[in-house]
Amino acid sequence: MTNELRLGVNIDHVATIRNARGGNHPDPVRAAVLAANAGADGITAHLREDRRHISDSDIERLLKEIELPLNLEMAATDEMLDISLRYKPFAACIVPEKREERTTEGGLDAAGGYNHLSRFVSEMGEAGIRVSLFVEPDLIQVSAAAELGAQVIELHVGAYCDAKDAATRDHHYQRLVEAAAKADELGLECHAGHGISFETVGPIAAIPTLLELNIGHFLVGEAIYIGLADAIQDMRNRMDLARAGNAATTGSGQ
Ligand code: PXP
Repeated sequence: MTNELRLGVNIDHVATIRNARGGNHPDPVRAAVLAANAGADGITAHLREDRRHISDSDIERLLKEIELPLNLEMAATDEMLDISLRYKPFAACIVPEKREERTTEGGLDAAGGYNHLSRFVSEMGEAGIRVSLFVEPDLIQVSAAAELGAQVIELHVGAYCDAKDAATRDHHYQRLVEAAAKADELGLECHAGHGISFETVGPIAAIPTLLELNIGHFLVGEAIYIGLADAIQDMRNRMDLARAGNAATTGSGQ
């Protein structure tokens, strides 16, 4: 069955735990197989420049051993472009990357980085990779992504998910709604990700033109308590309920 709102499970932090001890356990590829059985529609993995979690061999094994489409998150560097053209994953999402950050902080500057990014979008697009740009819910960035020729944008929902009070949450929710509507108007497929939890998934999933959510850290954390399969199934149910109109549709009504 194809879900109207797809769930991409990001397995980076299974690799973070593995790498804490330097061995093979837990194996992110095994987590990906489990995620597929639990209802994920795709697997997302970020091959960072410093290889702090996912490794090159994880990417190779994911491509060989899982049946779900792989979404490779990558920085706009020549090394990553070569890797993506070699492996030709189903999709690639270009993200900003700084060595000193703990996780991807903020979206790409698609408008300011237009000249740098256009080569990546066109070369990967010509290779048949579905190219996505990870941007803030900002109308200028959404328009720049469309002008760059990306097929997809992924909206950075971190500011909404991390909001500490209702007014801030409402403000960021409105930005998401407007950015998703703009993407639709421009013919861009719209995804969302970063920081999504059981609490925040409902209102995000209720935005009708979103087609995919990419979720990682919360699911891997929740797996400690209830197991990865149950965490994924619970997330999937919450997404489906929201799409059926049973979730709060404003930013603060969680
Ligand atoms: N989408 C993108 C583009 C990301 O960079 C990340 C974080 O790696 C995620 C989704 C997943 O975010 P989280 O791990 O907070 O769920």
